[in-house]
Amino acid sequence: MSMLIFPILIYRKAAKLQGLYAMTSKNPKGTVSLRQVSGSARSKKVRVDLGDESSFTTLPALVKVGDASYFLVRALDGYKLLWTVCPHQGGEIMDEGGDLFVCDGHGWQYEKSGGSCPGRPDFRMKAFLVTVQENRIVALVPDE
Ligand code: FES
Repeated sequence: MSMLIFPILIYRKAAKLQGLYAMTSKNPKGTVSLRQVSGSARSKKVRVDLGDESSFTTLPALVKVGDASYFLVRALDGYKLLWTVCPHQGGEIMDEGGDLFVCDGHGWQYEKSGGSCPGRPDFRMKAFLVTVQENRIVALVPDE
């Protein structure tokens, strides 16, 4: 178990006992920031404060929440978090700097604007809701 995950698990265990999460600390860009604004410990998704919108000067930005990784992107309809696990067979989707994300499994590519796979409309990166609340970027992600 990595040093990053262990404190989160302890934190979640304590939060479940209390029935809610609380802010752990002010978070720099791209680090874990668990802050559940509402919902119960049984919620399947948690709201995560990713940081101040102005701190994300370059998109897509790799964001880690617990042991999961996402790309924060700006699509036509606003921000999204795209999960880096490939919908094909679970490879890792990476940003190699080009116009598309690339999976390390079999080289499939995904659009950076919304995670769709060109030429394969049945495959797209899993996307999660992101909103901006008082200049903070807040995402709704699986509670894993
Ligand atoms: S696992 Fe990603 S392309 Fe096959």
